[in-house]
Formats: sequence, structure tokens, C-alpha cells
Amino acid sequence: MTISHEPSAPLVVVVGATGMQGGSVINALIESDKAYRFRGLTRDTSKPAARKLIDQGVEMVGVSISADNAEKVHQAFEGASIAFEIDDGILMINAAKAAKVKLFIWSGLMSVTEASGGKYTHVDHFDGKAAITAYGRQSGIPFVDVQAGTYASNFTSTLAPRKQADGTYAIGLPFGPDTLIPIIDMASDYGLFVRQAIESTAFGAGSEILTCGELLPVGDMFKQLSEITGKSVVFHQLSDKEYLAAMPEMIPDRIKVEFLDQMKYIDDFGYYNGKSVVPSQQQLARKPRTWAEFVKATDWSKVLA
Ligand SMILES: NC(=O)c1ccc[n+]([C@@H]2O[C@H](COP(=O)([O-])OP(=O)(O)OC[C@H]3O[C@@H](n4cnc5c(N)ncnc54)[C@H](OP(=O)(O)O)[C@@H]3O)[C@@H](O)[C@H]2O)c1
Repeated sequence: MTISHEPSAPLVVVVGATGMQGGSVINALIESDKAYRFRGLTRDTSKPAARKLIDQGVEMVGVSISADNAEKVHQAFEGASIAFEIDDGILMINAAKAAKVKLFIWSGLMSVTEASGGKYTHVDHFDGKAAITAYGRQSGIPFVDVQAGTYASNFTSTLAPRKQADGTYAIGLPFGPDTLIPIIDMASDYGLFVRQAIESTAFGAGSEILTCGELLPVGDMFKQLSEITGKSVVFHQLSDKEYLAAMPEMIPDRIKVEFLDQMKYIDDFGYYNGKSVVPSQQQLARKPRTWAEFVKATDWSKVLA
């Protein structure tokens, strides 16, 4: 279906429309047989990603989301039926509430401090998102938390395997090969789960959706990567000390510890704290990609050069 401009179509306000998650949300809703209008928020309506959305029929609004810009943020939500948001949620929850949106969809994460019973207390970007989830849930706004799994694209960028002297590739993480990763092709599939939150009766206000294409042991990910690309990519378990030492020096110590705590939490408790991802997959419009399908669809020539 194309983007609607009929006033009767729900207006979906997408924060981060030019980004990976927001872009995926717009694409998934365009694929729907239901009609939607879209308003995307960006700091710069002249950037190519924003221009492309304008050409597709998305109303793009230039607004920087920050507390000192509250009035503009509130204006950006006026008339909205549904809102999707990835960051800085409190200001936008308030703006969406004032606009009386029917559904606020938030890209949240678990509270690692809470889920681990205080064992891992440094994963601020998870805990921070969970605090916004709690705020949203108590705000009275119809609120769905669509949690983002591990981006498959992380393994082509920040977590790309590194070339070794013998020509093979290696990736080291501070857990063993059996640790389960909720891997998702974010650009292709995150929007599917948001569409499910909007269109499926099973996931109304108050629900939680845990996204992934599959829950795969990390060792299997790299076996499959080797098989499909024909390159030898070996997974190693690192000690905590080795993992910290392997991070680039420019990363502040506080962030290094945050990454380590996040990895240890995933190993100990599971990314989704042991919750099943199966109910979140039940009413998707199509199957999300597996890791192997992501690998096949990706150009690895620069990553495994
Ligand atoms: N990597 C992972 O495995 C992983 C896992 C779970 C969750 N996450 C979370 O995913 C989120 C990132 O989402 P993404 O991948 O979609 O990001 P992205 O592709 O980097 O896009 C970021 C978007 O946010 C917009 N934005 C940034 N600052 C803004 C501001 N001040 N005002 C208005 N818009 C602003 C950008 O718009 P403009 O540039 O056009 O203004 C852009 O559309 C992060 O919160 C991260 O914690 C990541």
C-alpha cells in the first residue's frame, strides 16, 4: 500500500524516521494493507534520508528533541494517532499524552540492574530505557514496549570479526559459544514487530514485544557465517580482562565496564531475562530473517576483506 494522505488514516509520528529502527517501522507499515499517514521527525529535513522520505510521501518535520525545545516537540505530536520513539522518551511521552495519541510505541530494553538482582549495575543504556518504560506505563498513555534485540548489523560494524595474521578472522566475547543471542535484521524486520503492536489485537496497550529473527547460540552464528561466506571466522571466549583489553583505547573506562556488564548479563540471565520470544512472533505479517538469511543478503566483501 502507498502512504495515505486521507485525514481518516491514522497519523503515525515516527521519531528517528531517518534511522534504522524508524525507517523499518515506516517500511513495515507501508507494506500493510491498512492505510497510514506518516510524520517523521529529523533534526535536518534537507539530509538525503529525509529527502527520500519526503519523496515517498512522509511529512518530515525538523525538530531537535531536547528539553529546551519542548514547545516544538509538542507541536510535532499534534494530531498524532500513533507514536513510535527510540530515545529521550519522557519528553515525547508527555507530548504524545498531550496530543491524546491512541498508542505510544517505545523501543525499550530490560533493566539489567533489576533483572540481575543488582549483580550488574553498570548497563546504563538498558536501565535508562527501562526507566522510561516505567514512566510510560504509569503515565496512563496507551503504551507498548517493543524491545530491540541484538542488531545483526553490529557484526558488520562495531563487532565485526577481526583479521588475523594467518588470514582467518576472529571474534572474541566474554562468554562461551552456547550463549543465546536474539539476533535481528533491524532495518528489514524491526518494523514488523511494531506493525504487529499496531494491528494485532493480541498486543494492545500495556503489552511487551521481544524482537528477534531467532535466538541463536553465538558459536553457531560464526559457524554459519564461515559456511556461507567461505571465510574462516572463529569465535573465542575471552576472559573479562581480555575483553576489556581488546576494546579500543579511546573508549572511556566507564563505557568499557558497561559493555562488559551487558555481556555478562546476557550470559548469566539472557538478553530478555529468560522470557520466551515465541509469543512475540505469533502474529507477524511475515517471518523475520534468520541470521543465515541476513548473512546471505549482506555484502561481506569489505568486512571480511
Ligand atoms: N545496536 C544494538 O544492538 C542495539 C540493540 C538494542 C537497542 N539499540 C538502541 O537503538 C537505538 C538507535 O536506533 P537506530 O538504530 O534506529 O539509530 P540510528 O539509525 O542511528 O538513527 C538515529 C535516529 O535518531 C534521530 N535523532 C537522533 N538525535 C535526535 C534529536 N536530538 N532529535 C531528533 N531526532 C534525533 C536521527 O535523526 P536525524 O539524524 O535525521 O536528526 C535518526 O533518525 C539506540 O537507542 C540504541 O540504544 C541498539
